[in-house]
Amino acid sequence: MSDRVVVAGAVCDRGRLLAARRSAPPELAGRWELPGGKVEPGELPEEALVRELREELGVEARPVERIPGAWPLKPGLVLQVWTAALVSGTPRPLEDHDELRWLGPDEIHTVDWLDQDRPAVAEAAGRLRAH
Ligand code: CDP
Repeated sequence: MSDRVVVAGAVCDRGRLLAARRSAPPELAGRWELPGGKVEPGELPEEALVRELREELGVEARPVERIPGAWPLKPGLVLQVWTAALVSGTPRPLEDHDELRWLGPDEIHTVDWLDQDRPAVAEAAGRLRAH
């Protein structure tokens, strides 16, 4: 059986990357992540990403491109990441998060990212710097 995909967004706007602090579960609370969630049956990863960013942040976003790689979360669950652009709205921590922060390329290391998000965060930060 293939792994269930968790899709997360490296949301970039005006040269900064959006970081979200998890409020639950207790073992992850306080750690920072790229917002996202599980792809539902019948959904494409990009569709799931748009839905998750709408639910969690209250914004409309557009997936831009996949960051190459797939990072195992636990047996049967794998993380994939897309860069994303804001289409409308201002992100707010509506669900799963208690704080959001926009980080410039030199601020990326100022928050405690989930280990599994770090490679994609590093890649996204490099792209911010290049633009
Ligand atoms: O909301 P939903 O149940 O769809 O997903 P979630 O609970 O936000 O994420 C599912 C799993 O993916 C959790 O174990 C998260 O810790 C993990 N995850 C992650 O490792 N990195 C992310 N950027 C997003 C989720």
